Amino acid sequence: MNGAHIADTSDFAERAVIERVRGKRSIAIYRIDGEYFATSNICTHANGLLSCGQIVDGYIECPLHFGLFEAATGKARSAPVTRNLATFPVRIEGTRVLMQLSD
Ligand code: FES
Repeated sequence: MNGAHIADTSDFAERAVIERVRGKRSIAIYRIDGEYFATSNICTHANGLLSCGQIVDGYIECPLHFGLFEAATGKARSAPVTRNLATFPVRIEGTRVLMQLSD
């Protein structure tokens, strides 16, 4: 996998989820138990910014209405969210977080 340098591992020193913008896309990048994942940052319910939410047992909790998505798969887990998030492949190269953006 190629991939764009989207973050550094040190960016996760204070938060386990951060936002990055690429083009018109807002992306949430997560570090959970030493693994990295990326999803759309925009909640499929009513556009809450997931990077402002909290991670709870591998799930990202939307800060607006507290719906949950599984960070690793983007799957909607609990109401009011019902539609999954787009996900993007991530890999680590040294201290660089690389991500593949699909069109
Ligand atoms: Fe995310 Fe409503 S906007 S749960």
